[in-house]
Amino acid sequence: MATNASGFFTAPTVPSQRRKIQHSIRIFGSGFPFPEGISKRVFCSSTFEGAEKHVGASASESRSPKLVSKGCKLIGCGSAVPSLKISNDDLAKVVDTNDEWISVRTGIRNRRVISGKESLTTLAVEAAHKALEMAQVDVDDVDLILVCTSTPDDVFGCAPKVQKALGCARNPLAYDITAACSGFILGLVSAYCHIKAGGFKNVLVIGADALSRIVDWTDRGTCILFGDAAGAVLIQACDGEDDGLLSFDVHSDGEGYRHLNAALKENETDDELGSNGSVLGFPPRQASYSCLQMNGKEVFRFAVRVVPQSIEYSLAKAGLPASSIDWLLLHQANQRILDAVSTRLQIPSEQVISNLANYGNTSAGSIPLALDEAVRSGKVKPGHTIAAAGFGAGLTWASTIFRWG
Ligand code: UT7
Repeated sequence: MATNASGFFTAPTVPSQRRKIQHSIRIFGSGFPFPEGISKRVFCSSTFEGAEKHVGASASESRSPKLVSKGCKLIGCGSAVPSLKISNDDLAKVVDTNDEWISVRTGIRNRRVISGKESLTTLAVEAAHKALEMAQVDVDDVDLILVCTSTPDDVFGCAPKVQKALGCARNPLAYDITAACSGFILGLVSAYCHIKAGGFKNVLVIGADALSRIVDWTDRGTCILFGDAAGAVLIQACDGEDDGLLSFDVHSDGEGYRHLNAALKENETDDELGSNGSVLGFPPRQASYSCLQMNGKEVFRFAVRVVPQSIEYSLAKAGLPASSIDWLLLHQANQRILDAVSTRLQIPSEQVISNLANYGNTSAGSIPLALDEAVRSGKVKPGHTIAAAGFGAGLTWASTIFRWG
């Protein structure tokens, strides 16, 4: 397994790296260490002919790629935030709060909120275009789009809408992943599985959320935390020795659902209906969702307990000590959570990526947004090893160790 590659690559003057896929026609094994410690191997025959046919396929042909790769690399990122900035002082005009309470308890000072013609789709598309530009991958070479979100523009999902708005002429597979603040990490893991087992080559993973749409703006316990944003990463198939996704660890526990949710409201039926001989209780009333409800203390406790455990597990699977990590990149929920996790893992605060002062908790958008800022500012360089973790509603949590570039 790879060791820390910090400084191994020369940093480019601009953060763009053209990547050509080195196709391999050998039967392959993933070599990925599974929890039991057994290196499970997936065998699959692959041919160049199938791949070539796929490249020339029309929009109506099967989108199932034929070539399976041994590894994947993260080679481009981008992000987008709404233009409307809301400060703690602005919030103090809406609910009984103040800048000092919010910044001391959370580290948050500002957040962005969708307004006007902005939508989740416009943010996702902007972030994705930037990721493609950095990766120098043409939009028509993308063969899978995963939109990780819990606040889509359409309840059926917005990935196909994003696909169209991006201008993908060849209609790559596009679908949503709903896993709240763990969504982006689970999107990375899904991309990894699609590349390694499904033969996909260029996968766009977009984390985007607009929790401002489901927050109760009269509840000071929650509304001060959240903001809207999107971030995207382009993941590309590569040879096994270049594999940049070193390990991952994923979990769900529905027992904790009660601590954080935005549930469907009770389905009340109209008692009047049925009196004319129609089926009693039918038709149901139109569905609507409650605002986000959270037991902050419980979620806080959960996060500081499970996130270090999960990262330690991912590190063990990758065969790396915490000291070899260049950056700790956590879901940006609360600065106190970032501090508690980094202290437990003995990772110095200078190596903790934090931008929540500017954006608050942007749910599935937070990790790729923070990654993008860190890459573009030159903090994160090609070859750096990053321990990343998401956690939130479900409850869900997930971590991964990956190498940038
Ligand atoms: O992405 C999803 C993951 N979610 C999270 O990670 C959230 C995790 N939880 C948290 O970040 C924290 O629990 C909060 C920031 C939500 C709350 O911080 P806390 O230190 O747990 O505060 P608290 O809820 O215990 O409230 C302490 C006091 C209470 O007053 P009393 O009972 O001591 O008189 C609250 O009523 O602070 C009061 N309070 C506020 N005061 C001013 C609660 N919210 C506010 C507010 N402004 N916005």
